[in-house]
Amino acid sequence: MDYRLLADRYGTPLYIYDFDYMTSRYETLKNAFEGKKSLVAFALKANSNLSVIARFAALGAGADCVSYGEVKRALIAGVPKYKIIFSGVGKRDDEITGALNDDILFINCESEAELDRVEAIAQSLAKPARISVRVNPEIDAKTHPYISTGLKENKFGVDIPTAKRLYIRAKNSPWLEPVGIHFHIGSQLTDLTPIAEAADKVAELARSLIALEIDLKFFDAGGGIGVTYKDETPFTPSQYAKTIAQAINGLDLTIVCEPGRFLTAGGGVFLTRVLYEKRMGDKRFTVVDGAMNDLVRPALYNAYHRVEAIGKSGGESLCDVVGPVCESSDFFAKNISLPSVDRGDLLAVHTAGAYGFTMSSNFNTRRRAAEVAVENGADRLIRERETYDDLLASEVKLLNAAR
Ligand code: LLP
Repeated sequence: MDYRLLADRYGTPLYIYDFDYMTSRYETLKNAFEGKKSLVAFALKANSNLSVIARFAALGAGADCVSYGEVKRALIAGVPKYKIIFSGVGKRDDEITGALNDDILFINCESEAELDRVEAIAQSLAKPARISVRVNPEIDAKTHPYISTGLKENKFGVDIPTAKRLYIRAKNSPWLEPVGIHFHIGSQLTDLTPIAEAADKVAELARSLIALEIDLKFFDAGGGIGVTYKDETPFTPSQYAKTIAQAINGLDLTIVCEPGRFLTAGGGVFLTRVLYEKRMGDKRFTVVDGAMNDLVRPALYNAYHRVEAIGKSGGESLCDVVGPVCESSDFFAKNISLPSVDRGDLLAVHTAGAYGFTMSSNFNTRRRAAEVAVENGADRLIRERETYDDLLASEVKLLNAAR
């Protein structure tokens, strides 16, 4: 990848995505389910650029959405409606209405109160709702506490006895059609054991529901497949597929999984330019033009992303790579060994293809970065850098009207 050329062509800060890598990740995972009915539904929250979604849609992927905005993205990008799932703990009425009108695969309900709303809206539209219930299997996923979701103390899903009750309720409602069962215990999982335990528990529940003539069709094992940022050794897609298949052995269910990070993280680089070198006593800071508003993972989770000084070697010393934002948490790396760099040099922040751009913001009235796809050796812009007009237009209009 010629980072210098891309930086000159599109400017910095810049997200660069390797579409060939993303394609091969999808295919590896999909092939791991060979011989089983499966749907790999890309979790849009990881990287929701329309061109990225369209790339996966062309390969046959579905979409796991957590807002109606994401459902819209999936549809616009060409994901067929019958491959779209809508999850999330707090769906608004207008979002439920939108999803029902769009006739997506199923809505994943996370509480009894939400199931009530889905039922009422389905009735008012005279459209029965295909649903699943998110089961909280109460398993410790042993990942970062902010991205661990399978424990009682987390806000996600319902416990097993409640789930059972909700399925029976749904079966008896003319407006609810329970077609799926869902769990997701956390993200960036590198150990299969908690996933196996959760899958077994949820499969046991599925068996008891099927015995009650609840006609489940989808076993949705969520996302969470971990990747290597530094030295993690995650399980392989085939180990993962076997584990899920084993849990539902003998059941006629389509396996659904909702990977986000696995498909895109390693295929993304965040490219930023050095603005200044700065010393405070013994401490070296490399100040760059990207910031926490562009890539918040280091600030939010103390996450590690490898930082590479493009085309530089020698003169290594310990430094913090920091952005211009007025927060001490505005850093990409702390105490890393970096070659000496000059103004204008490029730094690549690796493994930034998931939860990078999608978590970016306009904090400090900074424009969000541009995004570029590289595929078959060719590059193309897939999102323009925001302009100051983009940023300010909706306020300027109102300010002027009030004057
Ligand atoms: N399905 C559900 C229901 C989820 O909650 C998530 C992620 C996924 C699928 C996709 O998980 P993945 O395969 O990407 O691990 N912002 C955090 C990650 C938050 C994940 C939230 N849920 C980060 O940057 O690490």
